[in-house]
Amino acid sequence: MIIPENPPEKLACEGGKPASPEQLPFMGGADLIGEEEKRELLDVIDSKSLFRYYGTDPRWKVKTFEKEFSQVVDIPHALAVSSGTAALRTAFVGCGLEQGDEIIMPAFAFLACPAAAITCGLRPVFCECTEGLLLDPSSLEQRVTPRTRAILVVHMVGAAADMDKINEVADRNSLTVIEDCAQAFGTSFRGRSVGTWGRTGIFSLQAMKTITCGEGGVLVTGDSEVYRRALWYHDLGFERKGRDGPPLVGENLRMGELAGAVALAQLRKASTFLERMRRNHARVREAANSLGVLDVREVPDPDGDNGSALIVELPTQDLADIFRKALSAENVRCDRCSDKLAYGYPVINESLGEFERCHETEERLGRRVMIPLSPALTETDVDLLIHGIEKVGASLEQ
Ligand SMILES: Cc1ncc(COP(=O)(O)O)c(C=O)c1O
Repeated sequence: MIIPENPPEKLACEGGKPASPEQLPFMGGADLIGEEEKRELLDVIDSKSLFRYYGTDPRWKVKTFEKEFSQVVDIPHALAVSSGTAALRTAFVGCGLEQGDEIIMPAFAFLACPAAAITCGLRPVFCECTEGLLLDPSSLEQRVTPRTRAILVVHMVGAAADMDKINEVADRNSLTVIEDCAQAFGTSFRGRSVGTWGRTGIFSLQAMKTITCGEGGVLVTGDSEVYRRALWYHDLGFERKGRDGPPLVGENLRMGELAGAVALAQLRKASTFLERMRRNHARVREAANSLGVLDVREVPDPDGDNGSALIVELPTQDLADIFRKALSAENVRCDRCSDKLAYGYPVINESLGEFERCHETEERLGRRVMIPLSPALTETDVDLLIHGIEKVGASLEQ
């Protein structure tokens, strides 16, 4: 009998020992919630002042968060709201989009993108994504019609789309650019934060995100007219001190002080954990690249990636499914990219009637798997995670 020199390790999905004895962390900033968040929260509780605009002893957490967020992103205005979806709706109204306007967005995006557009009376139109699963500027231009008013650029899974090329298309066609940075806190393009390249940008602070307060969102803009309209809109069009002009009718999309307290604590720790995320991402990326069977996603500005996840491609959809199931059994969380086909949600698909699909992106998504890289991953966790990828990768190569 010939015994191979290095017999492959038995996969966990076939009864072997998992690469990591326990499920590795896979959330975002939530994995690092600790004393800082408790301190900020208790400060609000002690003050008995939970509302952002007044109270018996307000601690102004939301206001402070907005100020510091705008400094981190390096943009004049930041407005905290109740969710990323609320921020999208506020952005659409802030930019003056109107009933029936078409807004082009990439086919790889979250449900909130088309949903927010539809609930604002806009018509979402989808365009193809590049190999790197980011909005493809040439497909974008092909989808422009006389009814197109805006582009929703979605910086999916921590990487920035090519804002130079997108802004060129927008300028040529007089379109408003709105950036969805829900999955891209800490991400930059050519050294400048996402959210600063368009007329406005939005971030999400939902529980899976890089910084979180459970539910929350932020709109950023350098355009004071957009900011003014957004401020009115998210606050029911209320007249508050220092605001001029006729208010527009809005919704209550305000952030409360409890959420603001947690968001503030998370924002203040982000600079330390973003560095770690990028380091971990580089290690995992290199390990995945060195296996013959995985193709690691290429993006326009790799240095600007926030490191929140790695996307790998397998030769076929079947292999992608096998890889994903086997890696999950190794206690390494991973997800199907095809779950984030913007119009793949029945409720969106059905509400649109006839629309142009994005076949290339659909095909690409089927072969891609996303591996979240939590900021809480230690060096040892990353060793285990890489071990899992190598184990499963080696089994597929045979
Ligand atoms: C790309 C994208 N846009 C928008 C949102 C909406 O954010 P939220 O869940 O905070 O409403 C999300 C959230 O998951 C997202 O991933």
